[in-house]
Amino acid sequence: MPDMRTIRVTVNGKAYTREVETRVSLADFLRHELRLTGTHVGCEHGMCGACTVLVDGASTRACLMFAVQSDGCSIETVEGLAEGEKLNPLQEAFRDHHGLQCGFCTPGMLMTLTELLREQANPGEAEVREAISGNLCRCTGYQAIVHAALDAARRLANDKA
Ligand code: FES
Ligand code: FES
Repeated sequence: MPDMRTIRVTVNGKAYTREVETRVSLADFLRHELRLTGTHVGCEHGMCGACTVLVDGASTRACLMFAVQSDGCSIETVEGLAEGEKLNPLQEAFRDHHGLQCGFCTPGMLMTLTELLREQANPGEAEVREAISGNLCRCTGYQAIVHAALDAARRLANDKA
């Protein structure tokens, strides 16, 4: 018999109560149980950053956390960034600066940079590079991602002005 627990989580503002196997990762819970497949799974051992989500506002490798550890937490995934069809400023900047090619790393990049831009409204290039240093991208060479993040900070500042 699998070891099961009931957890209550809020994901992108919506409350869920689910019974989960204790061995299931948060990444697999989000993807298979809640069908939020925007969170990607690459290495499954904490190296690539593709699975990054925010747990109570902090960027977290969803492949390294058990779903049961998120009981009572508020989780944000890439699906929560846009408002309906309207991309948020960070997503728009990625689109405009070609910050993605295959898109596999993109959800993790976006969530990592969401955390950075909340904590640091006006980051420099070095801070952006430091923030995404745990997110691997095999396509872009990172330059376009850095440009997108810096432009997103400017767009967010303009929105507030
Ligand atoms: S899938 Fe989680 S860090 Fe690579
Ligand atoms: S866009 Fe392909 S891995 Fe980053």
